[in-house]
Amino acid sequence: ATVVYTDHEGSTTTVEASEGDSVMETAVRNGVSGIVGECGGSLSCATCHVFLTEGDDRLPEMSEMEDEMLYGSAVDREDNSRLSCQLKLCGDMDVHVTTPETQV
Ligand code: FES
Repeated sequence: ATVVYTDHEGSTTTVEASEGDSVMETAVRNGVSGIVGECGGSLSCATCHVFLTEGDDRLPEMSEMEDEMLYGSAVDREDNSRLSCQLKLCGDMDVHVTTPETQV
């Protein structure tokens, strides 16, 4: 899977992701800034907030828990907000996310 990360200033980083990793894990492993992922993916920090610019039907749907956590993110949520630790990647997915200005 390929993930394109665009930061709030418009700079873009493209990363080849490993099967089964999340968009958050892929960012942390590859030193992509703008995603913190403080809780390691257990839906308790909301520091992995992203705006899903271009998705894939195979990405997991938003759970109730994720929905609730998004109200506590540092930058206000938008219609396309997701917590990137919940965006598990597989196969030939192409995903594009934009990161918020701050996660804290
Ligand atoms: Fe903490 Fe996603 S990494 S909620």
